[in-house]
Amino acid sequence: MAASSPETAKTAPSGSAGRVLLANPRGFCAGVERAIEAVEQALHHHGAPVYVRRAIVHNTAVVERLERLGAVFVQEVDEVPEGAVAILSAHGSARSVKHAAQGRDLKVIDAICPLVGKVHAEVEAWYRSGRHVLLIGHIGHPEVVGTLGQVPAGAVSVVSCPDDLAALDLPPNTAVAYAVQTTFAMRDADATIAAIKATFRDVAGPRASDICYATTNRQQAVEALARQCDLVLVVGDTMSSNARRLVEVAQAAGCADARLISGGDDVPLDVLARARTIGLTAAASTPETAIAEVCTVLTARGYALEEAEGEVERVRFRPVSLDALNIGTLGGSLEDRLTRLRQDIDQALDAAIGHARDRDRRLAEAMRYATIGAGKRFRALLVAAVADLVGGSYAQALRIGAAIECVHAQSLIHDDLPCMDDDDVRRGRPTLHRKFDEATAVLAGDALLALAFEILAEDATHPDPAIRARLVLAMARAVGQDGLAGGQMMDLYPPARPSAEDVFQCESRKTGALIRYAVEAGAMLGPCSAEELARLLRFAENLGLVFQIRDDMLDSIGDAEVVGKAVGKDAEAGRKSATSLLGLEGAAAQASQLENACHEALAVFGPKATPLRDLARFAVNRMH
Ligand code: IPE
Ligand code: IPE
Ligand code: MG
Ligand code: MG
Ligand code: MG
Repeated sequence: MAASSPETAKTAPSGSAGRVLLANPRGFCAGVERAIEAVEQALHHHGAPVYVRRAIVHNTAVVERLERLGAVFVQEVDEVPEGAVAILSAHGSARSVKHAAQGRDLKVIDAICPLVGKVHAEVEAWYRSGRHVLLIGHIGHPEVVGTLGQVPAGAVSVVSCPDDLAALDLPPNTAVAYAVQTTFAMRDADATIAAIKATFRDVAGPRASDICYATTNRQQAVEALARQCDLVLVVGDTMSSNARRLVEVAQAAGCADARLISGGDDVPLDVLARARTIGLTAAASTPETAIAEVCTVLTARGYALEEAEGEVERVRFRPVSLDALNIGTLGGSLEDRLTRLRQDIDQALDAAIGHARDRDRRLAEAMRYATIGAGKRFRALLVAAVADLVGGSYAQALRIGAAIECVHAQSLIHDDLPCMDDDDVRRGRPTLHRKFDEATAVLAGDALLALAFEILAEDATHPDPAIRARLVLAMARAVGQDGLAGGQMMDLYPPARPSAEDVFQCESRKTGALIRYAVEAGAMLGPCSAEELARLLRFAENLGLVFQIRDDMLDSIGDAEVVGKAVGKDAEAGRKSATSLLGLEGAAAQASQLENACHEALAVFGPKATPLRDLARFAVNRMH
């Protein structure tokens, strides 16, 4: 922020009424400037109107100025006409908002402050690492809503003061991590962080404070001058959290009268007579024009303006990219795609399982335990990659992916039961019947299977009822006698002397069928010629078999810690698997042949099929 505004320089006040100490820094921060510029640039490039979801920053004057330039402010993206430009506010938005925007085919520009983006990434990483996140912030504030919306409901609890911790009902041995709203009061955050550390044994936190540089600097600057002032005026909007915090900080620092004003018209003339020294500051979302108006009113009343000592801020961010956010496809490396898909699938599953109070809580808890935050998501990723290849919708692929993950989870729950493979560890955690009990495991499996069909049959999965019916039919076939159930049966009750053909048949059914379904379903989401479909299905056939062969190999060569389940089980049970039949080297050779067949089947698609090639390579080389 400028250490000396032009207004200060040209004013020649009498100073007889007193002085105005201007806090430094004050006013716009880099994130606010960047977000406003994004709207201006979008108007410049796309022409009016461009739509902005919610106040781009919390300041009415800023919003009104952008409205005059042609921006249209809306509450929700469903108010934006299909295909139009939609800008998301600097406070950050929940993932569901982006999905809703995708459903309307909007060109989305995300003006999120990069420092809020950093908090989103942290919260997500902690959630992934199995910690319960405590977000120190104000319930209902858009930034908090956006941060909560990065992870499934229930993964984060919002606390605003130490007393809120008691109400959480979390045992002290819960592994927690904390994050802080970027505009929170520093002192209040410190007190709450101390209380968190005193309450829980295992607490992780950000390396540097989540409270942003601008909040920190403005709070420190007003704190430094508040004690010398009879009155502190904070120019800002009532919507603005950081503005309100500046008033509180001034009060806490010893200024008897600190108030929030919106601009020149709002100066409390009646109290000026009592104020010899006035402190003046402004929120990070307050434009210079509003501060200048206040200065004009005060100098006209005989106050002399004085710049207080303070830090000069040099933070600048790269402008917001005006390229519409690519939320329709899964770009990036396999690892990037996986990270993104994992978040989205978790959210889809969480929403599908729901939080209805009148339902059995133990059942819902078991369903969540079996599905959320666990597993490689190989099959869901496959649907998304195939959908992308044929130009299908990511949102639809996500729903199908969630349905497949439900069926897959059900197959694992049942596969681990004592009457089948009798396993205690799955995905690095106790198996469902160990964590809960066998009856709950059977019923959670049933409910997940039903849920999968429910998701597929719902309108949101595809607008065309004929396609929904095909999705349901193909899934039923993948799960039934010719698929998973039939294959598991062959595994448990093999012929006396199984041939390689018998074993491959079993593996193709018990594991391959669902993988084949993922490809088949993805291909239903876009135009696909008969020839292309045949090639995709050939790819899927080879991929499904190789996936299970690698599973068999991992049973011999895998590390239980890495695989997340017991190893050596097949040999122990005398099970006929690819490795017991062909030997480790034979199985590896077979896997490599199948991988080649995958690549051959994909050749016609050219570079478009790179994500599918990555998946085939992963299936053959994976260590978990
Ligand atoms: C394990 O499947 C069981 C098999 C069908 C081989 P995955 O290896 O895909 O298991 P998760 O979903 O990643 O845990
Ligand atoms: C997987 O076979 C079959 C399923 C359909 C669940 P396994 O029994 O070998 O799978 P893991 O090794 O327990 O994951
Ligand atoms: Mg098994
Ligand atoms: Mg098993
Ligand atoms: Mg196995």
